[in-house]
Amino acid sequence: MIQPQQQSFNQKIDFPNAFEIEVYVKREDVLHTEISGNKFRKLKYNLEEAKRLGKNTLLTFGGAYSNHIAAVAAAGRDYGFKTIGVIRGDELADKFQDNPTLKKAFDDGMQFYFVTRTQYREKHHEHFLQELHEKFGAFYMVPEGGTNELGVKGCEEILTEEDTVFDFVCCAVGTGGTISGIINSLHLHQKAIGLPVLQGGFLFDEVRKYTKNKQWNLVTDYHFGGYAKINIELKQFMQQFFKKYLISLDPVYTSKVVFGVFDLIKKGYFTPHSKILIIHTGGLQGLQSNIADI
Ligand SMILES: Cc1ncc(COP(=O)(O)O)c(C=O)c1O
Repeated sequence: MIQPQQQSFNQKIDFPNAFEIEVYVKREDVLHTEISGNKFRKLKYNLEEAKRLGKNTLLTFGGAYSNHIAAVAAAGRDYGFKTIGVIRGDELADKFQDNPTLKKAFDDGMQFYFVTRTQYREKHHEHFLQELHEKFGAFYMVPEGGTNELGVKGCEEILTEEDTVFDFVCCAVGTGGTISGIINSLHLHQKAIGLPVLQGGFLFDEVRKYTKNKQWNLVTDYHFGGYAKINIELKQFMQQFFKKYLISLDPVYTSKVVFGVFDLIKKGYFTPHSKILIIHTGGLQGLQSNIADI
């Protein structure tokens, strides 16, 4: 049902290093302008399932800068679903028009339900879902970040046969779905390295839920203080990276993974002479939210 606007491709990054490691970026950000990168992958089978079940409303969860909220709203608009976003932070209710992500989602037709942070933490509890059903009627629930079995299945399509040449595949980790799909599609000689963008030791368990093989690790040193936290070093890195390679990175996810991988290369984390593929998971709409204005 959902079609890419452009196929992704691998772009070589000129990053001279003492270990003669080669670095490529998989440009998943080009897949779709509004349902970009891993959002495209995660929504693909979820939208098919919602259609199959005859559901015409998608309900999902997210925070103020959520790429997932933006993508679900756009997908709903384009593929004929009503969309409901359960948004973390009830203080946003009367100022969401100031937030570019939420404003765009609203303009794409999403109806919001703002909840407190405490309520939001209960999002997967049966009683909360029941309350949502009482309030909104029948819906197809897409979990936060689009991570469920079908989201992971979509992410298993990120790597293709031509990627067998890589030894390491690296990506940013938020809820764990993207790296799980990547892990499930690795060849035996390959290893996936995930860089969580938030302080989240819990992510090891999340990834274990969706994967069977052990060819992976999470390196938890590059969250920069937490979700959507950024410092001047990361901001400068994003700017220099764009100048040098003409690839935009977002402040929440992809800048952290590229920064982290470059740093790990310099520190000798990867096998010398190996080939690394970094997944550009999109999310560039986040650039409009001025998170990087520090
Ligand atoms: C642009 C971008 N990259 C990476 C991630 C992390 O993916 P996951 O939540 O599947 O770990 C997200 C969030 O879902 C994202 O929006």
